[in-house]
Amino acid sequence: MHVPGPWRLLRGLFGLMLLLASTEAISLDISDEQSIKDAASTTAYAMMTYYHGNESGHIPGAFPSKWWEGSALFLALLHYQYYTGDTKYNDELRVGLEWQSGDDGDYMPSNYSSYLGNDDQMFWGLAAMTAAELQFADVSDGFSWLSLAQGVFNTQIKRWDTTACNGGMRWQIFPYQSGYTMKNSISNGGLFQLSARLARYTGDDTYITWAKKIWNWSLSSPLLSNSTWNVADSTNMDDDCATQGNTQWSYNYGTYMMGAAYMYNYVSSDCSGFFVEGLADSQFAGQTNGSSEWLDAVDGLLTKTINKFFPDSNGGIFEEVTCEPSEVCNNNEILFKGLVSSWLSFTALLVPSTFDTIVPKLQTSAQAAAKSCTGHNNNTCGVRWYKSEYDGWIGMEEQISATDIFVANLISFNKSAPVTSTTGGNSTSNPTAGENDTSTSTTSKEVTTGDRAGAGILTVVFVVGWVGLLGWTVLGG
Ligand SMILES: *[C@@H]1O[C@H](CO)[C@@H](O)[C@H](O)[C@H]1NC(C)=O
Ligand SMILES: *[C@@H]1O[C@H](CO)[C@@H](O)[C@H](O)[C@H]1NC(C)=O
Ligand SMILES: *[C@@H]1O[C@H](CO)[C@@H](O)[C@H](O)[C@H]1NC(C)=O
Ligand SMILES: *[C@@H]1O[C@H](CO)[C@@H](O)[C@H](O)[C@H]1NC(C)=O
Ligand SMILES: *[C@@H]1O[C@H](CO)[C@@H](O)[C@H](O)[C@H]1NC(C)=O
Ligand SMILES: *[C@@H]1O[C@H](CO)[C@@H](O)[C@H](O)[C@H]1NC(C)=O
Ligand SMILES: *[C@@H]1O[C@H](CO)[C@@H](O)[C@H](O)[C@H]1NC(C)=O
Ligand SMILES: *[C@@H]1O[C@H](CO)[C@@H](O)[C@H](O)[C@H]1NC(C)=O
Ligand SMILES: *[C@@H]1O[C@H](CO)[C@@H](O)[C@H](O)[C@H]1NC(C)=O
Repeated sequence: MHVPGPWRLLRGLFGLMLLLASTEAISLDISDEQSIKDAASTTAYAMMTYYHGNESGHIPGAFPSKWWEGSALFLALLHYQYYTGDTKYNDELRVGLEWQSGDDGDYMPSNYSSYLGNDDQMFWGLAAMTAAELQFADVSDGFSWLSLAQGVFNTQIKRWDTTACNGGMRWQIFPYQSGYTMKNSISNGGLFQLSARLARYTGDDTYITWAKKIWNWSLSSPLLSNSTWNVADSTNMDDDCATQGNTQWSYNYGTYMMGAAYMYNYVSSDCSGFFVEGLADSQFAGQTNGSSEWLDAVDGLLTKTINKFFPDSNGGIFEEVTCEPSEVCNNNEILFKGLVSSWLSFTALLVPSTFDTIVPKLQTSAQAAAKSCTGHNNNTCGVRWYKSEYDGWIGMEEQISATDIFVANLISFNKSAPVTSTTGGNSTSNPTAGENDTSTSTTSKEVTTGDRAGAGILTVVFVVGWVGLLGWTVLGG
């Protein structure tokens, strides 16, 4: 949603007044674990002031007008409670993450399911996966975290679409949604990431096969390049995916990088297993060759991510470059830096050779973010960290991303990597989870006004991106 001109001006003036008035700052010593935890505690508190799902008359985990954002909030809380040890929001986290899973345990809750996109559902799957990997205990009377991730996987692979472009996930699930005829990076790269994480956690080949299949298809489409490591936003089925909407968003890079990091870690730990069993050197070399392919992918995507989204011209501080300079970031886009900060921290743990590259970027960005959290005399955080001062924006999304960048820095003090079912993860597996869900097998479902009103949670992002590309093509051509 774009803020109209006069409001922007007013907000700008208001922001300036606040700047002059505000003195409160989050003091952050990046070399001190407690200092980082304190900063995260401050921003997490503010983030939770936007959450009412635990209050009477409210629904746990529900953000009716922006359903997917609940998953971003819970992702932030999962990382937060693990790395800080502060469990005070764990009840809200557990109840909300479970409540929104719906009757069939696959994050297609009937209140929202008729207008969800594949990407929206996928993000909740990633949250459940993270819960399993960070040993957040399963609930005793509901779906296990692992089964919820499996439920998302099972329902999504059924939607793999071969009617155009030789495969790929559509962006949207239902024909009446705008974006149904597009295939996009976050839906495909998101399912790739989820598949890679399920593969590593369970050791089940089904997931590794799908991860490779989605990766291969992405390379064959205009979405992902393994020579330039460009990640485009979307491509259109109308011309059989011949062209790309190349708007640059950090989460598109981040999701493919994160998935590749899991593939690398899975394949390479598989190798060391072989090695311990005393296989011949030649066989070992054959195995490691596989992981060097994934290492190349991680390195390629990481380098590109840093060059593009941590520009030297802004002090190497994380910036959502497509929307921040012109101050047009919508709520979705404000969350991308937070998501990617968390993914960078896991990548550093899963692919240790990237650690020394990633950590300084996280540190510089966290220090700038802390300086942006000086609003309203109560540590409200802004959007543009690179300004190193409060920029007048305020919202749950700003607080989530700031929390994520602070928590991401705690990997310098706790290098525990996400677990698997053989390294301490005990979330219950259900390989057929979600199989009972028939909600997407029928496309003639009646859509209510409420559904329409809530539609297009992420529409703005991609439609703007697509129109932008068309404009560029027309001008450029
Ligand atoms: C900070 O102050 C602003 C403006 O009064 C308010 O909207 C916001 O809720 C406050 N945040 C916290 C964490 O109290
Ligand atoms: C809901 O959670 C918030 C944040 O943790 C807490 O401050 C509030 O007391 C909780 N409300 C209820 C009714 O439990
Ligand atoms: C890292 O954090 C986890 C979860 O809080 C904890 O179980 C583990 O002991 C910590 N590891 C180290 C090395 O501090
Ligand atoms: C769906 O809506 C009903 C009625 O408001 C509510 O009781 C229920 O908790 C909601 N379920 C979810 C998953 O949001
Ligand atoms: C699974 O692990 C979690 C975290 O270590 C623990 O709290 C829980 O009790 C374990 N559950 C079972 C059934 O062993
Ligand atoms: C993916 O592509 C690679 C190389 O092109 C090929 O070896 C592999 O069999 C493909 N895997 C799948 C699952 O399609
Ligand atoms: C890059 O992708 C293409 C198309 O899938 C594939 O044929 C090629 O082997 C890949 N190159 C590398 C270095 O992985
Ligand atoms: C590693 O893979 C590449 C590309 O698939 C191949 O050319 C090379 O021979 C392989 N090397 C080994 C040691 O298997
Ligand atoms: C699917 O439905 C059947 C019959 O109602 C039930 O026994 C089974 O547990 C369900 N499976 C899942 C994964 O929910």
